Amino acid sequence: MTKLACVVLCAGQGTRMKSSRSKMVQTCLEKPLCRWSLDVASSLDPEHLLAVVGFQQEQVRLVLPDSAQTVVQSQQLGTGHALQQAFRALEKSFSGAVMVLYGDTPLIRAETLRQLLDSLQGNEMAMLTSFVQNPRGYGRIIRDNSGLLCGVVEEKEATLEQRAIAEINSGIYVFRTDFLLKHLFKLTNNNYQQEYYLTDLVACAAGSVATVLVDEAETLGVNDYTQLAYAESVLRQRINTHWMRQGVQMVDPVSTYIGPDVTIEPDTFIEPGVQISGKTRIETGARIKAYSVIEESEIGAGTQVGPFAHLRSGSRLGEKCKIGNFVETKKASFKKGSKVNHLAYIGDAEVGEFCNIGAGTITCNYDGTRKHSIQVEDGVFVGSNSTLIAPVKLGKGSYVGAGSVVTQDVPAQALALGRARQVNKEGRMKKNN
Ligand code: UD1
Ligand code: CA
Repeated sequence: MTKLACVVLCAGQGTRMKSSRSKMVQTCLEKPLCRWSLDVASSLDPEHLLAVVGFQQEQVRLVLPDSAQTVVQSQQLGTGHALQQAFRALEKSFSGAVMVLYGDTPLIRAETLRQLLDSLQGNEMAMLTSFVQNPRGYGRIIRDNSGLLCGVVEEKEATLEQRAIAEINSGIYVFRTDFLLKHLFKLTNNNYQQEYYLTDLVACAAGSVATVLVDEAETLGVNDYTQLAYAESVLRQRINTHWMRQGVQMVDPVSTYIGPDVTIEPDTFIEPGVQISGKTRIETGARIKAYSVIEESEIGAGTQVGPFAHLRSGSRLGEKCKIGNFVETKKASFKKGSKVNHLAYIGDAEVGEFCNIGAGTITCNYDGTRKHSIQVEDGVFVGSNSTLIAPVKLGKGSYVGAGSVVTQDVPAQALALGRARQVNKEGRMKKNN
């Protein structure tokens, strides 16, 4: 098999985004935009993975995978110029295929890249093209009367007639190294933008360019926030389809937001408006009720969450737990069968098995300077509207009376009452008549 080098171009500013931050670090479904191209390229297991950086390179470098070699393009003189820098950085002895991707095409799939690579056989280069509804902003594919590809014309140089062409350049190519050696450094910048266009290479290879046609939904180039939102919606849809095919039931996949690193076992039921992010793991039979937000957490088999619950990072629920409405948890673990059904905040806590934490319970885990933890052993009952001031431990089988402020450890099996005793003043409210 031919050796492969993948180059991802990430040096541009992304002016159409109208943001002060590089387009490459803008978040697209929990990942920086350029990570999608880089991750899919690295899934091909290339000999070399190069990322060309330039605009705000310090910030862009922070989001690159460790496996990527960075190449600096200090002036952004165009996509052709960017590839020149990468090609120079590639070891002289490298010969094989050079795949080029842009950092702003997050929807491309690995299978499509493999297909592109296969089509290079016997050609100087191969590229992905798409027919799109609205070709605005893309380079148009120019073919002769017999359908043979003869070049790419950028929107800014295109005639009105060429602008009507619906077949566009996806910005994903694979070249033979010897072809690049011959043509890459001969590119010129005689064009409207005075940039070195990578797309001019297509005309150099005319007659020996393979094209692979892919769906518009895979080649979208993200240039502004409307395209970023659209790309994110396509990625979400793919993720939801994947999990539904794995046996996860979603009442309304359109309003269900699941991140790329979430894993869900079959027979889980997810209600509308739910957001699940980070490396969250959900075991079989769980039910996530409407409008719950779950970040970087674990949810055990048969556990119920929500509606309107917020599991913040580090929440670990064992099997058959219940976290109910308007409950917020953070770095809190709950063993089998424990329940917090209403209106509570449980942070930095370890809760044992079969505990019942009443409505309105608040853990005071922060003293203004430091965080402290709370331990609740098996079988504890915490009455409603209690305040647990950390550090504190509630011993096995203990019981906290409703409305208590708990500042001291409670021994096992004890009843803790930490509230003012009620006083009834007999007859005090009788009218004087
Ligand atoms: C480019 C293509 C166009 C194609 C479209 C697909 C060229 C000349 N045009 O246009 O044919 O239809 O992508 O989405 O290639 N970059 C650098 N250094 C530079 C300039 C750009 O690294 O000097 C990077 C950018 O960060 C970006 C990518 O190259 O990741 C593409 O640049 P962009 O300006 O978005 O190109 P388009 O105008 O979209
Ligand atoms: Ca682009």
